[in-house]
Amino acid sequence: MKLYADSANVETVVPLLLDGLIRGVTTNPSIIARDGVTRNDLARLYDEFSAAGADEIFMQATGGSREDLLADSFRIADFGDRIVVKVPATPDGFRVARELQRRDVPVLLTAVYSLAQATYASAIGVEYIAPYFGRLVDSGEDGLAKVSNMTKVLASTRTKVLVASVRSPNAAATLALNGVGHITADVPVLLAMMVDPVTEQSAAEFERVAAQSSTDPVDSIG
Ligand code: G3P
Repeated sequence: MKLYADSANVETVVPLLLDGLIRGVTTNPSIIARDGVTRNDLARLYDEFSAAGADEIFMQATGGSREDLLADSFRIADFGDRIVVKVPATPDGFRVARELQRRDVPVLLTAVYSLAQATYASAIGVEYIAPYFGRLVDSGEDGLAKVSNMTKVLASTRTKVLVASVRSPNAAATLALNGVGHITADVPVLLAMMVDPVTEQSAAEFERVAAQSSTDPVDSIG
């Protein structure tokens, strides 16, 4: 399993990177806005995430036309060799993704909702697709079945399924159980994945016992 932080928040993401707990970082225009940064901050974010050890940094191109989308993709690709350019899986996005592939720019088609889109993405050889699990479920779909099918269809291709909109540790675990190998989630979800109340109790008990035995009188050994 490869885990990524879906965040543009340097304060919360960099410690996870420095501790080696995530593989990289994913962002999109909504996340950028939510975390109080702008398009103009993307190059700086790339540098900070990269310096902290991110192997892959996903940043999304925007543009009202195919030409603008392609131009923004090249701007983002220039940040460095850890960039994967995200492009929405629209008809223009597919064309831009193909052009980026031709020029050896790693690309992820994002907001993939159908098996047909996933199939097409693999046909043009993009590195990743990102289905939005939580939003699939919100829209009344069987999100798990859909993402599992995408994983099956792409299994023998070079295209990997990086599932986004994963909003709970349980969702992440269920996706893993169903063959998903790449997940991006907001930092609180990632942190919560490491916590179980019973583990916390056991750890507290270990500490209690260890503290007690270190204060036991030496002569009790005989
Ligand atoms: O990367 C996908 C993410 O931005 C969407 O997540 O939870 O708003 O559906 P969510």
